[in-house]
Amino acid sequence: MLSPQSQLLLRNAELFENGRWLIVNASDGAIFNELKNPDIEGFFHYFDQYQRAKSSSKNHHTFSAFYTGSQPLDGVVIYMPKAKEQVEMLLANIAPILSSEAKILMVGENKSGIKSSPKLFKPYSDNTIKIDSARHCSLYVACLDKPVKPFDSKRWQHHIKVEVNNQQLTLCSIPGVFNHKQLDKATELLLNQINSTPKGNLLDFGCGTGVIGIYLAKITPQAHVTMTDVSAIALYCAEESAKLNNVDVNVLASNGLSQIKGSFDGVYTNPPFHTGIKTDYSVTENFLHQLPQLMKPGAELKLVANSFLQYEPLLEKYIGNIEILANNTKFKVLQSRLLQRSK
Ligand SMILES: C[S@@+](CC[C@H](N)C(=O)[O-])C[C@H]1O[C@@H](n2cnc3c(N)ncnc32)[C@H](O)[C@@H]1O
Repeated sequence: MLSPQSQLLLRNAELFENGRWLIVNASDGAIFNELKNPDIEGFFHYFDQYQRAKSSSKNHHTFSAFYTGSQPLDGVVIYMPKAKEQVEMLLANIAPILSSEAKILMVGENKSGIKSSPKLFKPYSDNTIKIDSARHCSLYVACLDKPVKPFDSKRWQHHIKVEVNNQQLTLCSIPGVFNHKQLDKATELLLNQINSTPKGNLLDFGCGTGVIGIYLAKITPQAHVTMTDVSAIALYCAEESAKLNNVDVNVLASNGLSQIKGSFDGVYTNPPFHTGIKTDYSVTENFLHQLPQLMKPGAELKLVANSFLQYEPLLEKYIGNIEILANNTKFKVLQSRLLQRSK
């Protein structure tokens, strides 16, 4: 079953019949087969969406923080992300390769902020109209009618300096990364509970800007640190942050632990509890379920979570030996240590 956004696009399939089109962050891969034009390409910020599109259609698809195609496009469709600044960056990135009078479309749930499309399209067009709405979603269209500046990815990068446990870190942050331009309070509470780590393989799951992994690499230079995230924007930031801090780390795209191999001595995370704009614990529940297979006996997991999230029963079930390392009115830091590899 297609997502409501894709169903709304399909009701307007005649828009995509001709010319070269780019679809950005399509929530389901099947839309590419439903739209019959073979000149439709997919561009993704999220590895799970990219994998679904690749496995369900023959169209060309790319997964990256920035679109680097150079063939002029007759139209682009953006699935509205959570962060408005991410749309601004996407438009600045893609507009320079749109042909004159190309169509710019945005589709999204009404509660996702889709109504701000006319404002977001303003630098590119004075005429944005809502052409359809159904299933709690709306579809807006504009026609490129203003001059566009070349895209400079560096203009969107912020370098933020943070200090944790006397470690100075410089982090790269771009729109769309978790907690853009700031150190998250929960992450800070977690890092304050990590004074030392085992010396072997360490994993930062859901790395965002890379703040946890880089901190680990700094306090334990002998460790091999792997950082992973589903978001190309996060992976870009993590790679840049690693360069800024002169640390050698391994940065990997993965939906959950699907692409992660090896066995780890320590795992550290501020795990996600949102998918898009919805609260969703399933990513972290699957992560906790699969993690023991990737932990060495005796390995530690340190995790920070909102106080109301009930991860303890899952930790007890899959890993065991729980300790609460810190607790305030909003967050708690939990440690769980695997004594025996699970069967
Ligand atoms: C709460 S943020 C923490 C980011 C960073 N570690 C920090 O502390 O600032 C959770 C991260 O998990 C990532 N994430 C969400 N779903 C994921 C999935 N299915 N697989 C891997 N990472 C995911 C998000 O992109 C986000 O960067």
